[in-house]
Order: sequence, then C-alpha cells, then structure tokens
Amino acid sequence: MPLNVFKLAVLVSGRGSNLQAIIDSIDQKELHAHISIVISNKIDAMALERAKKHDIKTIFIDPASYLDKNAYDKALVEKLKFFSVDLICLAGYMRILGEEVIQTFKEKIINIHPSLLPAFPGLNAQKQAIEYGVKFSGCTVHFVDSGVDSGPIISQTVVPIYDDDDEKSLSERILNEEHNLYPKAIRMIKEKQLKINNRTVTRKTL
Ligand code: GAR
Repeated sequence: MPLNVFKLAVLVSGRGSNLQAIIDSIDQKELHAHISIVISNKIDAMALERAKKHDIKTIFIDPASYLDKNAYDKALVEKLKFFSVDLICLAGYMRILGEEVIQTFKEKIINIHPSLLPAFPGLNAQKQAIEYGVKFSGCTVHFVDSGVDSGPIISQTVVPIYDDDDEKSLSERILNEEHNLYPKAIRMIKEKQLKINNRTVTRKTL
C-alpha cells in the first residue's frame, strides 16, 4: 500500500450495500482509497461478510461488553486511532456516536441518510416521507456532529415519490442513488475539494 493512500474506516450495523458501493468504487479505480477497517456493533451484520470477501479487516465491538455508552465510545476511538484513518464513513451504522468520538475526529466523520435532510432525520426516513406525503425525497451525505443527522450537508440527490410507492419501493429507489452519491462524496473529501464554513459546505473553485 503506498504511503500517502487515503485510509477509510467504515462503520456498519447491517446489510452493507453502501459499504459494497464504496468497495466497488475503489475496485473500479473511481475512488483512490483504501478501507483499513470495517467496524460493526452487530455480530451478524451482512456488511462484515462483504468486507471479509474482499480481504478487508473487520472488528465487531460488542456493546454488551461495555459498562456504558462512554466506555463503548472510548473503545471505538482507540480502534479508530490504531488504524490512523483519514475519514470515517458511517454506512448504515445505527448507533449515535458520543461526544468523545465526534470531538476526536472533528470533520472526519461522514454519514449517509435516506432523506433530503433536514427533513426526516432519525429512523425509518423513507416511511416518514411516505406518511408525510412529500412528492420528492432523496439521500444526503453530511458531516457528523453531535445531533441526529444534523451536521453540515455535503451532497444530496433528489428522488421522486410516485403515487403507488410504498416504503419498500421508495427505499430501493433511494438506495440506488445512495450508492452513487456516497463514493463521490468521499472522493470530494479525498481530493480536498470542499470548504466548510459553519454549516455551509461548498466546492472550492479551481
Ligand atoms: C441506508 O439506506 C442508509 O442511508 C441508512 O441505512 C441504510 C443502510 O443500508 N442509514 C440511516 O438511516 C442512518 N440514519 P446498507 O447497510 O445496505 O448500506
């Protein structure tokens, strides 16, 4: 591995299709990066299997082995420091990161969320969008701060909602776009294309 390679940690809890999109984008040489570690809080996450298939190191950090959330977060910080990654990508990671993690890796943690934030943060974003009756939803990549899905927005894709959509059909349409959006956002960060000014993230002019 070249010395100056851009190193990623990917945090997962489940299916891992966004992890797969990142892996594929690296394999196809669209994203010049290396996944140093995949960390899961769920032992049976399919994402762990996907990583192993590609010879990517995995760690399961079991929440049940820690006294409380702070102790868990300390362990997570230790692991992330050990791998000295450049960027931490949450990809379907369903635990809220504690202040210690956020402060240690300021502006180095990003997340993908299946709605056009700030609309429909939290769980079941696609169901929330259907129930609210909006005509467009989408996906958002954002920096992670101490709120829930509330950090500065890096990029978004709009997805239409049709009259016959249900949660499943909308989730599939959004997920397709997530798989495009996430590797591109990582690439923009890797190439230092972004400027952050409080909440506003813009592309640097060349
Ligand atoms: C994705 O839709 C992602 O946007 C969502 O979980 C799914 C994970 O799928 N994340 C959140 O809702 C975070 N608030 P995946 O495991 O197949 O990548």
